[in-house]
Amino acid sequence: MYITGGRVIDPWQGLDAVADVLLQDGLVRWTRSAGGDAPAGARTVDARGMIVAPGFIDLHCHLREPGQEHKETIASGGLAAARGGFTTVCAMPNTEPAIDTPERAADVARRARETAPIRVLPIGTITVGRAGRQLADMTALAGAGCVLFSDDGAAVIDPALMRRALSESAQLGIPLSQHSEDPQILGGAVAHEGEAAAQLGLPAGPASAETRIIERDVALAAETGGRLHVAHASTAGAVELIRAAREGGAPVTAEATPHHLTLTDRALLGERGPQYGWPSGPAADTSLRVNPPLRAQQDVDALVQGLTDGVITAIATDHAPHAAEDKARGFAEAAPGISAIETAFGLLMTALVHTGRLDVSTLITRLTLGPADVLGARAEAEGLRGLTPGASADVVILDPNRAWTVRADRFASRGRNTPLEGCTLRGMVIETFAAGRRVHSVMDDAAAPTRGAGRP
Ligand code: DOR
Repeated sequence: MYITGGRVIDPWQGLDAVADVLLQDGLVRWTRSAGGDAPAGARTVDARGMIVAPGFIDLHCHLREPGQEHKETIASGGLAAARGGFTTVCAMPNTEPAIDTPERAADVARRARETAPIRVLPIGTITVGRAGRQLADMTALAGAGCVLFSDDGAAVIDPALMRRALSESAQLGIPLSQHSEDPQILGGAVAHEGEAAAQLGLPAGPASAETRIIERDVALAAETGGRLHVAHASTAGAVELIRAAREGGAPVTAEATPHHLTLTDRALLGERGPQYGWPSGPAADTSLRVNPPLRAQQDVDALVQGLTDGVITAIATDHAPHAAEDKARGFAEAAPGISAIETAFGLLMTALVHTGRLDVSTLITRLTLGPADVLGARAEAEGLRGLTPGASADVVILDPNRAWTVRADRFASRGRNTPLEGCTLRGMVIETFAAGRRVHSVMDDAAAPTRGAGRP
């Protein structure tokens, strides 16, 4: 496969130039400045006017298998990922049962190899059953292929346990992805403490529910040398704590989600994005119920600044598909989460790049090299080395300008829970190649308006 004439952005090479890329036998053969002759026998893909980049890497998604296959499967979520431009995703372990033994982790990896069109890497729990009482056998989980540890959906509350987990992490060289929300401060809150929650009469919680956990964990990471990765950072205070920790040399990284980077709690009042021409939505729409909750504009601004500065080095989707009945309840009772992986690129382009808040090469870096660096040696071992010779041929072709309107009934994901229904996004994933295989193409989608699960 010979991809010609595109604007190639490869953070691994510091490359942002019109270039040609040759894929062969599942690997990148080379990336060269544009204009050479087509290699004999190669199929040519004309990428003029497009961006060509390494496939995106998602450190945080929920694929629900085993146990909640009515919400998502590794196959349907893998296909959704491919459509979103992701060629590697890390699957959160809050399945049923939770991924807290090496056998279960190996089972996820096997199902992924058999059914997903892209690379799915398992995440193991920090504690047995995610119950926060007893450490899981992290060494055995690492041996079974886990790339991160997380009790996501819940924080590890016990500080002594978290300290031991970080010590283990230091030994294993594998980060802990902590869901930083203190349930005692939250006390059942379902929205950010602010005007929107007050107007709607929703139980609301403060930013300190997040910052208190991060503050503690940063100190524990610095003491133990354990690698702390802050999942879905959502507040200005979190950005400042992470900034100070990194400046002080603590082994701390962080991710932010597309929704926390682009939407505020005003969306709960129906104001999803009038500045983008989006229609207003219903008030207290349960598709906006998410943990941590959507925050204030100043928090969004701080996250975007953190993304620009490199305090937040990864964008992770927190793709959290739910069934319609899980959302067909009152706001407080609805299941938290957004089916986010298919809209991530379009949303980020529309709200951050086309508004001039972020340049597109930084966006690509935070979707590729940033997450690969969190995975460290494991990313190297998987061939996640951008578009350098010998890297896994994981490549996306992106149209930065093409507009499309979100229709959840056309998602590959079984989760149709998006707050962006009917919104027009500018920026589209045209084609996705995983290990050299075309796993998504908009041409195919046009021919197949309704999607099923499984291999494309
Ligand atoms: O909104 C969320 N949904 N946040 C989480 O941390 C968990 C996730 C889920 O599993 O649905």
